[in-house]
Amino acid sequence: MPGYERPDYWSLRAKKEGYPARSVYKLEEIARKFGLLKGLSGRVSSKGSPPAILDVGAAPGSWSLWLLRQMKGTGRLVAVDIQDLGIVAVDANFSFLKGSILDETVRAALRDEGPFHLVVSDAAPATSGNRLVDQSRSEELVEAVMGLAMEVLAPGGALVMKIFQGGEERRLLSELRARFAQARAFKPEACRSESFETYLVATEFNRQD
Ligand SMILES: C[S@@+](CC[C@H](N)C(=O)[O-])C[C@H]1O[C@@H](n2cnc3c(N)ncnc32)[C@H](O)[C@@H]1O
Repeated sequence: MPGYERPDYWSLRAKKEGYPARSVYKLEEIARKFGLLKGLSGRVSSKGSPPAILDVGAAPGSWSLWLLRQMKGTGRLVAVDIQDLGIVAVDANFSFLKGSILDETVRAALRDEGPFHLVVSDAAPATSGNRLVDQSRSEELVEAVMGLAMEVLAPGGALVMKIFQGGEERRLLSELRARFAQARAFKPEACRSESFETYLVATEFNRQD
């Protein structure tokens, strides 16, 4: 089955490199293509603090682990998920919040942690098998992530978020383009060929308030 050749490669590679999930290579490709971490370690936020990254839907923790490895002890990483992480991240610059991004208390706690220079979201609902249901749950998550990102991103910051393809991309991209200099959809190589997920990548956020 040709569709299953590549996942085996990515899964084996993830295991060898110590990541709990193959999804790490999606973020790696996106970050490299859009230069998301370039210069981040030398940047200073508006609060005068080191660069900060928010990872939404972080469990089991591959994206967080990869980001921590890239950050090499500089800056801060905050992760949030309704499930526990499968990694032991002892870094002093890492904190994990267990809860839902749809919960206002959680969102308020994340606002307090900001501003962030980069918000990444791989958050996805547990799939039900019904594409319409999954898509509408995914859209609810995407709206929540997008709304929060607009509140917590520092000027010049970037946003990466997973969406299930199905008609909302155009509207979401046009909303993003109103607040970011660039926004586009991008499907990394490591996405399963049969998967209907893609990522929206928006860069150079310019807060208007
Ligand atoms: C594909 S996994 C993320 C994989 C992760 N990026 C990694 O590399 O390990 C999607 C995650 O979204 C989380 N999620 C789903 N709904 C959520 C919500 N309302 N708030 C926070 N996380 C959520 C799930 O619990 C799941 O862990």
